[in-house]
Amino acid sequence: MKRKGGAAAATYAVLGDPVAHSLSPRIHNAAFLAAGLNALYVARQVSAEECGPALRELALGGGGGNVTVPHKERVLPFLDRRSAAVSATGACNTFWARDGEVWGDNTDVEGFQGTWDSCLAGQREPPEALVLGAGGAARAVLFALLDSNRASRILLWNRTPERASALARHFGDDRVSTVVDCAGLTPAIVVNATSAGLHGRRTPIDLATLGRVPRRVIDLVYGHGPTPLCREARGLGISAVDGREMLVRQAEVAYARWFGMPPPRGVMARALDLR
Ligand SMILES: NC(=O)c1ccc[n+]([C@@H]2O[C@H](COP(=O)([O-])OP(=O)(O)OC[C@H]3O[C@@H](n4cnc5c(N)ncnc54)[C@H](OP(=O)(O)O)[C@@H]3O)[C@@H](O)[C@H]2O)c1
Repeated sequence: MKRKGGAAAATYAVLGDPVAHSLSPRIHNAAFLAAGLNALYVARQVSAEECGPALRELALGGGGGNVTVPHKERVLPFLDRRSAAVSATGACNTFWARDGEVWGDNTDVEGFQGTWDSCLAGQREPPEALVLGAGGAARAVLFALLDSNRASRILLWNRTPERASALARHFGDDRVSTVVDCAGLTPAIVVNATSAGLHGRRTPIDLATLGRVPRRVIDLVYGHGPTPLCREARGLGISAVDGREMLVRQAEVAYARWFGMPPPRGVMARALDLR
């Protein structure tokens, strides 16, 4: 693949299934262009079997990329080096190579912390949070909150309750309790780390059945227009952000891992008409 002056461009890719909806190519290509890098970022739909080998080929070929739904946990055996966030969460979303070794990090952790901090600016006491989901994204959210004492207590719900219990056991922290029914709960913050809403109109839970109106909803899902959960939240008068905020923050951290410096300021957010 050639882009600039005939020299082969370094290839970066988001690997997942589905990936057609991903905004990562848009924000990373905007940053590559603004920084004058000879690099190209593409979306590549890969099966579970294809993902690990594709990750190694991209990284050792001088590029890198991201891993998304549903492969973040499955690629760990293909990494030579794991960041502390990958070891703690058991999930990888960013990869690159250095000195012939393939490195993996989980920049969803810092991306989520930045989103949480901007949503809760001015809040003095760590609030109680209801976290929905038990996949790779939920692992990053739990680690992000527990590691930094950002939440006083985490109520963890998942459609398949056994996965929530397994995730709670993975962290082994008494600030985390699993719940099988969200009705009547009174969390200050609701975080959606499920993929419900990625396609169609489904929300993971009915916010109206909670015991009180939460202060904020942070949805990790994004799409064209407001997500079903953000729409429901705003209808109930709750302030809500969708996954584009976190997407930009985790992408800025990933870029810094690949190139050793932050991307040109604000370029990624502007590519999504944010900020
Ligand atoms: N904005 C960002 O930067 C960012 C970063 C990371 C992830 N995300 C988004 O977060 C979502 C989850 O990602 P992931 O990597 O954790 O995926 P994953 O590992 O495949 O896990 C999917 C999770 O969603 C749940 N789920 C799927 N469909 C559901 C439904 N209809 N109702 C309720 N729960 C449902 C699954 O529950 P079961 O266990 O019952 O199957 C599981 O907990 C994706 O939409 C992804 O795009 C966004």
